[in-house]
Amino acid sequence: MTHFISIHENSTKQINHILDVAFKLREQRSAGKANEPILAGKTLGVYFGKPSLRTRVSFEQAMNELGGHAIILGRNEVGIGERESEHDVIKVLNGMIHGLAARVFEHKVLTQLAEHATIPIINALSDYSHPCQALADVMTIIDEFGREDLNKRTVAYIGDGNNVALSLASICGKLGMRFVIASPPGFELDSSFVDRIMAQQPDMDFELTADPMRAVHDADVLYTDTWVSMGQEEEHEKRKLAFKGYQITQAMVDDAPEHAIVLHCLPAHRGWEITDEVMDGPRSRVFPEAHNRLHAQKGLLAVLMGGA
Ligand code: CP
Ligand code: NVA
Repeated sequence: MTHFISIHENSTKQINHILDVAFKLREQRSAGKANEPILAGKTLGVYFGKPSLRTRVSFEQAMNELGGHAIILGRNEVGIGERESEHDVIKVLNGMIHGLAARVFEHKVLTQLAEHATIPIINALSDYSHPCQALADVMTIIDEFGREDLNKRTVAYIGDGNNVALSLASICGKLGMRFVIASPPGFELDSSFVDRIMAQQPDMDFELTADPMRAVHDADVLYTDTWVSMGQEEEHEKRKLAFKGYQITQAMVDDAPEHAIVLHCLPAHRGWEITDEVMDGPRSRVFPEAHNRLHAQKGLLAVLMGGA
């Protein structure tokens, strides 16, 4: 495994291996033991072309806890593809650090970096996908339901067919989970993305609907994300209107099975895609999910940069 740019490009075996390592490292940490310094002497560059809380802190803290070091690189100083080309940036970093995680607007920036990289490139979110988030999401689903019966679980995603939805759909396919997505017309997951997932997982139970109530009815996991992703700010008013009726409300949670949990990648826009009542309610697992970003990141870095 050289890079981690999308779930799609990784096998089920590789994903399960990252999860195994992540759970093991988390177990050590919760038993009060420090992790082995498997990334001692290793440095990860973490580039942000747009803002972040969870991704930034989880990468830096993951490196610290594994004995390595992170250098946070901002758009204003580095400007990948702006101040300097992707090609030149990575040719410089190849000789200085041991891995680069990058949050970018255009996904192709990541593929261009990877093309000339001799160090691992990690997608820290692009307009296309958010694979690191999907790892933490699956850890949270496993925490709730165990790992054995994942193929009996249904994830219902309510909202925009965006980067988070795509990675979640993709990881559900890899791990045998059913995936239902309810989006308003015009905001569905791109059909070419769906085709790509189905070509790889022809047996996947994957449903697209416009009806959120239908989606949640037999779901084990209710998931949502912002209606307005970073870079779409100009569409704010249009999107607010289009997504009316796609909010995860208590009525929606009540319509789902009693054991269903609620996830959100965060940041949340309370009162828009999710209510306070649901976010802070008994079925919400959004904060353990955020904490799992740290553990998932550690599993990923240990595999990619530490040979775990
Ligand atoms: N979920 C997520 O990626 O959060 P940040 O944008 O804060 O990193
Ligand atoms: N879909 C959101 C996710 C933020 C973590 C965005 O891209 O802004």
